[in-house]
Amino acid sequence: MLELKDIYKTYNVGLINETKVLEGFNLSVPKGQFVTVIGSNGSGKTTILNLICGTIFPNSGKIFLDGSDVTSMTEFRRARHIGRVFQDTQKGTSPNMTILENLSLADNKGRFHGLGLGVNRKRIDAYREMLAPLGLGLENKLDVLVGSLSGGQRQALAMVMCTMTDIELLILDEHTAALDPKTSELIIELTNKIVREKGITTMMVTHNLRHAVSYGDRLLMFHRGGIEMDLSGEARRNVDVDDLLDRFNQISIESGN
Ligand SMILES: Nc1ncnc2c1ncn2[C@@H]1O[C@H](COP(=O)(O)OP(=O)(O)OP(=O)(O)O)[C@@H](O)[C@H]1O
Ligand SMILES: [Mg+2]
Repeated sequence: MLELKDIYKTYNVGLINETKVLEGFNLSVPKGQFVTVIGSNGSGKTTILNLICGTIFPNSGKIFLDGSDVTSMTEFRRARHIGRVFQDTQKGTSPNMTILENLSLADNKGRFHGLGLGVNRKRIDAYREMLAPLGLGLENKLDVLVGSLSGGQRQALAMVMCTMTDIELLILDEHTAALDPKTSELIIELTNKIVREKGITTMMVTHNLRHAVSYGDRLLMFHRGGIEMDLSGEARRNVDVDDLLDRFNQISIESGN
């Protein structure tokens, strides 16, 4: 369960470029729910994800993760409970380490398994089993440096790495946006499979409206730091891409754009 209560966030307080983004934002995401989040550029999606992860802190309000108040907990400490994959395919993995070393590091929540003696060989078979279903042949490239992989391969590896330990929350910020259409489909399908198999509470921001309506249990549309649309159940199942486009146009007209 994730809860954001009465969150206020202003960037550059007191400066000429002061930007009020959130003014009394509330959101409650039950355990295991898969939420897709859409909204125009600058509507506050990444700000919310950054607040949840502790990359930035609210001016006021509280954030709870599984009942614990994490509002002032550092990003580093929260990272044990939260997996995150970014749009930038360079961010989730370490380029100068091999696939095996990357997996080993992720497996032990940031500490190597017996580094110096080499990676724990017992885990290698388990890693191969995790990679084989991706269909990318990574299971046969364990000793290859991650920096030499394609963006799609790195994103698939990042997904596996951030979900291989028990996490309470998965945060995805346009994680398929930098990928070609075929690879984007592969990563969204992989995401869906992992989220469903493990039942991880997930927030996925996307500008791909088809992904937003085809995946997840609940759909949120952000607008100017607020939730403009919150669909689940029957309403969520019935919504299609055209409905969302209509709503975007309506908002745009109302905002005078
Ligand atoms: N570090 C920052 N300093 C100042 N203003 C910021 C900062 N980060 C975001 N903002 C502002 O906050 C508002 C919300 O930005 P945010 O990045 O959360 O939007 P977004 O919905 O993720 O947009 P996009 O779809 O473009 O990724 C914007 O007006 C943005 O300019
Ligand atoms: Mg963003």
